[in-house]
Amino acid sequence: MAVPKLQFACDHTDLPSALADAGKVGNVVDILEAGTILLLQEGRKAIQCLRAMFPDKIIVADPKCADAGAVVAANCSSAGADFMTVICAASLPTMQAAAKEVKEVQIELFGDWTFEQAEAWLDAGISQVIYHQSRDALAAGGGWGEKDLEKIRRLADMGFGVSVTGGLKPETLRLFEGVNVYAFIAGRAISGQPDPVKAASDFQKEIHRIWN
Ligand code: 5RP
Repeated sequence: MAVPKLQFACDHTDLPSALADAGKVGNVVDILEAGTILLLQEGRKAIQCLRAMFPDKIIVADPKCADAGAVVAANCSSAGADFMTVICAASLPTMQAAAKEVKEVQIELFGDWTFEQAEAWLDAGISQVIYHQSRDALAAGGGWGEKDLEKIRRLADMGFGVSVTGGLKPETLRLFEGVNVYAFIAGRAISGQPDPVKAASDFQKEIHRIWN
């Protein structure tokens, strides 16, 4: 089992503060993400700036694309993104069209989806998913538990690279011990901290303690 990567989600509402935090933690994390909130506020410039700052890192664009997969993915790719997210409710043609334009499409698992659909994504050549607890569900009292671990294990056994996100903190990661996770995605637990570099390092230490 590979050691999970750490992805920093820039969900800032303005580009200068996103780039300030990305500049601090970019060399501590493995993947940088232009988050949905940042993309809605600042557009493709956010991807372009992350790419310019980190030419050798994996850059993810997280538009949670629902339609016009080819156009959205081509725009993300030409701005510098390697991976792009597509919402699980999108049609298979949207996913396939997007997959032609970026290195990897990552299907965002929100709300209702089935393992039958997941088989169809695999058959279509899409091999990455993001298992997501939404920040609104978490704020309404949700949390991580065995129900999530079962689904994550099953997705990984099917052959997906499974990233995990939503309210993660370093101390949450032990729940996932023994699970084949591609990347842990953290936003506020890094950017919202007085010392984002220490926060990102604490994530990395915990990942390497558990998976090495
Ligand atoms: C929200 C997202 C976030 O980028 C991701 O879940 C990280 O958020 P958090 O601040 O909870 O770590 O995609 O839809």
